[in-house]
Amino acid sequence: MSETPIKTPVEIDTTRPGLARMYDYLLGGTENHPADRALVDEIAATDPGVFAAARANRDFLIRAVRFLTEDVGIRQFLDIGSGLPTQDNVHAVAQAIAPEARVVYVDNDPTITVHAESLVRAEKNIEVVLGDLGRPEDILNAPGVRRLLDFDEPVALLLVAVLHFVPDAEDPWAAVRLLLDALPPGSYLVLSHVSLAELDELAATTDRAFEKRSIELNANRTKAQIARFFEGLELLEPGLVETTEWRAEQTAPRKVSDMVIYAGLARKN
Ligand SMILES: C[S@@+](CC[C@H](N)C(=O)[O-])C[C@H]1O[C@@H](n2cnc3c(N)ncnc32)[C@H](O)[C@@H]1O
Repeated sequence: MSETPIKTPVEIDTTRPGLARMYDYLLGGTENHPADRALVDEIAATDPGVFAAARANRDFLIRAVRFLTEDVGIRQFLDIGSGLPTQDNVHAVAQAIAPEARVVYVDNDPTITVHAESLVRAEKNIEVVLGDLGRPEDILNAPGVRRLLDFDEPVALLLVAVLHFVPDAEDPWAAVRLLLDALPPGSYLVLSHVSLAELDELAATTDRAFEKRSIELNANRTKAQIARFFEGLELLEPGLVETTEWRAEQTAPRKVSDMVIYAGLARKN
């Protein structure tokens, strides 16, 4: 999918669940519809902790962006699979520390375009791009990406809770490699990935809920398979761990859900 100009109204079918709106519901937002909530609630019937797991994932993202902006000095973020650019998202965190920080949000759910125009008008240094991780070249060449990001300066590539939606057949490892190859040394990869590989009951419920709506989920990947996304990079401490364990503050809750979401942050040298 190539970039759609944000002024073009996009047809959005709210009778089918949309991943960005489902995630909004998981985070306690209001930008969702009954079809989105029904799928989430079906999974939550087996593991009510999925709401807390989504929150823990978003909190990992916030800690990673804060670390990169404050401690590392990163000023450019390419956030693919961003979800709706609402709530306490990347630009709010980064620009509170460095107002000049630039953020491009990319998602393949057309719902993001609904928010794009008002957000881009209201906030500085933000672009919202409709794009698909299965077509990484299109993302790199999208006018919104080219306009805002300077590929001669380090960029943080954020692939947070999105790669489990990219099937093996599309080779998500190659997509990540292609994106990283376009970034200069000193760039970073921030990644999280659901892994239901060792969870029989929750995996079965989740697979059934998604399959019923013809949405492909690839959450059966193991930790070792997820670790392969970091090959060739310098994985920073504490390595690939559960979201709640990644540089968590002392008070952060531990093990909020049966769902396992691995998280890591690495440097391209
Ligand atoms: C669980 S949300 C994660 C949102 C945000 N990254 C976070 O972790 O807080 C996953 C998002 O990835 C998007 N997505 C799924 N497959 C995608 C693909 N192939 N290309 C781009 N975005 C995709 C969905 O539409 C959804 O908004």
